[in-house]
Amino acid sequence: MTNLEIRNEVDTVMFAGHDTTATCTMWFLYCLAKYPEYQIKIQEEVDALLEGKNSDNIQWSNLSELPMLSLCLKETMRLYPPVPFIERELMEETVIDGHVIPPGTTIGVSILLLHRNPAVWKDQNEFKPERFTYGKTKGRDTFSYVPFSAGPRNCIGQNFAVNEVKVLISRMMRKYTVELVPSRPEPIRFPLTTLQSENGMWLRFKSRT
Ligand code: HEM
Repeated sequence: MTNLEIRNEVDTVMFAGHDTTATCTMWFLYCLAKYPEYQIKIQEEVDALLEGKNSDNIQWSNLSELPMLSLCLKETMRLYPPVPFIERELMEETVIDGHVIPPGTTIGVSILLLHRNPAVWKDQNEFKPERFTYGKTKGRDTFSYVPFSAGPRNCIGQNFAVNEVKVLISRMMRKYTVELVPSRPEPIRFPLTTLQSENGMWLRFKSRT
C-alpha cells in the first residue's frame, strides 16, 4: 500500500468506526437523561444481569439479554441517526414517482427525515422504544429504518457498533445516573457528516453508590 492508501484506510476506520459510535453514545445518553423512566428500566435490567458478580464486565452472552437497552438504542438511532445523510450516484436511468432521473445523477437520502416520516411513524418526534417490540414492526417497510444504510454498501461494522454501544451504556448505567443540566440549553441537532449538536451536549453524571 502507498502512504496515501494507508492514510485513506485510517481515515475510513476513524470516521466510520469511531465518530459514528461516539455520536450514537452521546445521543443515547441524552435520551436516557431526557426520558428517565427508560433509564430506570435499563438500570434494573443491567443490575439484574450483573447482580452478585464482582465485575461489571458485560460478557458476549449478555448482549442478547438486554431487551430494554436494545429497544432504546433503536429508538435513539431513529430520532438521532448518527449518520444523518447519505448519497448515491445513479449508474443507470432510474424512475422515482414518475420522474426519470438520468445516470450520473447524485441522489441525497436524508436518513434523519426518513426516520421521522409521519406516514410511517406515529408520533414521529416522540421517544417510544416500544415501537420496535416484536409484532409492532410487522408490515413496516424495511427501508423506513436504515441507521446503517442498506444495500451492498451498507455499514460493515453495524453488529460491532451495536455491541460496543450496548457494553458502554450498560457499564455506565451500572455506575451512574445521567441527567439533563437545567441551566444549560437542550441540544440543537446539527447534521454534519455525523449528527452533531450545534450548542454542545450538557449532561450531569451522578454516582449511583
Ligand atoms: C452507530 C455506529 C455506526 C453507524 C450509525 C454507522 C452508519 C453507517 C452508514 C449509514 C454507512 C453507509 C454510508 C453510505 O451508505 O454512504 C456506513 C458505512 C460504513 N461503515 Fe458504519 N456506522 C457505524 C459504525 C461503524 C463501525 C464501528 C465500523 C467499523 C469498525 C463501521 C465501518 C463502516 C464502513 C467501512 C463503511 C463503508 C462501507 C462501504 O462503503 O462499503 N461503521 N456506516
